[in-house]
Amino acid sequence: MSTHPTRTPIAGRFKGKVALVTGGTNGIGHAIALELLREGAQVVVSGLPADAAEGKRAFAAAGFSPLILAGDMGEENFCRELVAGTVAQHGRLDYLVNNAFSFIAKGLDATRADFLYSLEVGPLGFALMIQLAAEHMKKGGGGAVVNVSSISACIAQPNRWTYNMAKGAVAQLTRCAALDLAPHKIRVNSVSPGWIWTREVDKAAGGDRATFDPVWGQFHMLARMGHPVEIAGPVLFLLSDDASFITGTNLPVDGGYNSLGPEGLGQNTKIAGTK
Ligand SMILES: NC(=O)c1ccc[n+]([C@@H]2O[C@H](COP(=O)([O-])OP(=O)(O)OC[C@H]3O[C@@H](n4cnc5c(N)ncnc54)[C@H](O)[C@@H]3O)[C@@H](O)[C@H]2O)c1
Repeated sequence: MSTHPTRTPIAGRFKGKVALVTGGTNGIGHAIALELLREGAQVVVSGLPADAAEGKRAFAAAGFSPLILAGDMGEENFCRELVAGTVAQHGRLDYLVNNAFSFIAKGLDATRADFLYSLEVGPLGFALMIQLAAEHMKKGGGGAVVNVSSISACIAQPNRWTYNMAKGAVAQLTRCAALDLAPHKIRVNSVSPGWIWTREVDKAAGGDRATFDPVWGQFHMLARMGHPVEIAGPVLFLLSDDASFITGTNLPVDGGYNSLGPEGLGQNTKIAGTK
């Protein structure tokens, strides 16, 4: 299995800035929130109530104690409380990372309730959060949003109508929000991770990363899966002034997943014209 990569923060890059990261108690969102804290931002994170204590422990272990607000992103009232709570705590809001998402993965068997919840937590929750956050970003003279999308946004995968449809909608939301918020100096982009070692994936592997990393790694040119911190770096780049001329786009952070053809990595295939 690939070793866990480390990242050197750019000291003070986000000093004086305030960021809100949804789903920041665990996984990819946690890594993004932690890297923002390490680069000097004030950060508020949300998480499901069941995840709040674990998130608090993980931040404390790294020497941080960001405000953690627990609730469901599928509920409009919670989204409103989250943005209001962030501004009440830190006085402004510069960055939004829409990361929390429903993991319901169903196809022919999906119920209307499955579809509705996937959309409510996903693109509808993302859209409301952008609308609410933009009001405060405008007051601060601008800002940036990163939506966490997925490789699943633009490909078919078995039994995933709910998840892939919801991720597909995030792509259009990103473009439309970027257009309308550009006059307010608010940039909106997305990242699309490949397979990343977080708890859902770990659960599917039965905790056996050593066996499954090379197997699922084959879907990626880099022949391994990614780690949450490897998503954090690109997200921080898109939030930062280094990305000042980037908006309305999607950055694949997928180890080459999207560019890999049906021949895969080639080791099991004799391809005409190659050695
Ligand atoms: N892990 C992967 O392989 C992978 C690949 C592509 C995209 N993604 C995307 O990355 C994002 C984070 O995924 P992860 O793997 O880190 O997940 P995770 O389970 O490790 O963490 C999810 C976080 O979101 C919160 N959350 C989940 N549902 C919520 C809800 N309804 N309301 C409020 N908070 C909620 C959880 O409390 C937690 O903090 C998601 O948007 C996911 O679709 C993950």
